[in-house]
Amino acid sequence: MQFHPASLAEPWWKRGVVYNLYPCSYMDTNGDGWGDIAGIRARLDHLVGLGIDAIWMSPVYVSPMKDFGYDVVDHTAVGAQFGTLAEMDGLIADVHARGMKLMIDFVPNHTSDQHPWFLESRSSRDNPRADWYLWRDPASDGGPPNNWRSLFGGSAWAWCEERGQYWYHAFLAEQPDLNWRNPAVAHAQHDVMRFWLARGIDGFRVDAMWHLLKDPHWRDNPPNPDFRPGEPAIRQFLQIRTADLPETVEVVCGLRRVLDEFPDRAMIGELYLDYDRMCAYYGPTSDGCNLPFNQHLIMDPWRAEVVARGIETYEAALPAGAWPNWIFGNPDNPRVASRLGPAQARVAAVFLLTARGTPILWQGDELGLENGVVPPERVRDPQEKREPGLVDHNRDIARTPMPWDGSRFAGFSTVEPWLPLTEDHATVNVAAEEADPRSMLTLHRRLIALRRAHPALAIGAVTVLCGANDVLAFERRHGTEVFVVALNLAHAPRTVALPPAAGGRIALTSGLDRGGESVGETLCLGPDEAVVIAVAG
Ligand code: NOJ
Ligand code: CA
Repeated sequence: MQFHPASLAEPWWKRGVVYNLYPCSYMDTNGDGWGDIAGIRARLDHLVGLGIDAIWMSPVYVSPMKDFGYDVVDHTAVGAQFGTLAEMDGLIADVHARGMKLMIDFVPNHTSDQHPWFLESRSSRDNPRADWYLWRDPASDGGPPNNWRSLFGGSAWAWCEERGQYWYHAFLAEQPDLNWRNPAVAHAQHDVMRFWLARGIDGFRVDAMWHLLKDPHWRDNPPNPDFRPGEPAIRQFLQIRTADLPETVEVVCGLRRVLDEFPDRAMIGELYLDYDRMCAYYGPTSDGCNLPFNQHLIMDPWRAEVVARGIETYEAALPAGAWPNWIFGNPDNPRVASRLGPAQARVAAVFLLTARGTPILWQGDELGLENGVVPPERVRDPQEKREPGLVDHNRDIARTPMPWDGSRFAGFSTVEPWLPLTEDHATVNVAAEEADPRSMLTLHRRLIALRRAHPALAIGAVTVLCGANDVLAFERRHGTEVFVVALNLAHAPRTVALPPAAGGRIALTSGLDRGGESVGETLCLGPDEAVVIAVAG
């Protein structure tokens, strides 16, 4: 079955590659060990060389940094450690001058507890912003009003002496959740969007999109029968009252209407949901989120059957006109090169950049960075501090600074950075990989260039050809142009019958070899090898 051919006139967020840039760890220019906006501007050439189309930049707002920028004190100002609003304007101009787009993180679900809105809201039960957050009276025993838990461990309710009430926080207590059922909150946050859109920002990555609404009757979450010890405590309960409420999509459509007041903008949305629920966020008539995150390559096992079934399930669930996306890494999960191993990370890169759907590439994955080693005394992540020792639960390990070169602080800073550098930074860094024709960076550059040059790879239709015996294969087609992509997910050779590839020539492999080789009806794949075959066109 062939899925949804697309036209050439597709917008940038469908055609292009999105790069998730993490400002704290990109480049430090003032020697305080933290990345800054001046650093991003100084290192834009890396992104130009890579060939990406759009940057999604994690938060640089004014913030006490309890959750590294996701605790916002002022949505329309830049935190001093990152720079100034004027520098932000300069960054927008620089990015645009290089033909790229700049999307920023938008954090609608919660603010910092230091935000003026919250300071006012917590001051009494009858101030003008009394209903801007989620306030509840204590239970009869004086304890929290229900069993809702924080994603970062413990109760999701924090006590406020002034009001004699609890406030709800899905994340840290210092990140109180806003009350999105209050129209004044929606108006205020819509104005934040307009502020940035008017400055030239090309769109948003909407944080915690599936958390925006909670049960209006404040009912308990039911126990999760599948909970296993060692998992984050939040998983003890199914989050049916606190996340992914069906009416959340209406809020998302409201965000989209604001976005559409400005031409050619886009919204990507954070969610961790199965294909069916995820696709609801596109909106009933594709009038919701342009790209609700597909996190299945992070959540699911890396197996040919699973990914093949995933593509077909996803394509079948997409509403008319909706466009997929694929993600292997983000600032909240262990690195793909550590999860799958370095050899399969190259296979994963081939999948990401040849699949039908916008690739969202996490900073450092283009270098094949592995998880950092963060000793207990250097842990920064509040999640790790509140629930130490859980498997795959330390977010610092994916957030280590970019290694630019082989110097002492890897060209990232002149001092010890806020998080340790990756241990192999003397050899695994941008400069070394630029000089290496077989490096992970070279592979990414070649793949992105190929995708850009061929509409079949960028916007073509997809047909799954094989999802068995460790081989995932699919066809991409646009007009007369046809490519076949075959991935070996095993560490041993595999042979696969692939008649649709017959007569084609190898355009690129994960090992950056075999270029030009002609292909018959049977394809031999080396261990951990992925092959892109140009068949026609
Ligand atoms: C998702 C962000 O990616 C994560 O880093 C943050 O802690 C939570 N949302 C809360 O804002
Ligand atoms: Ca700095």
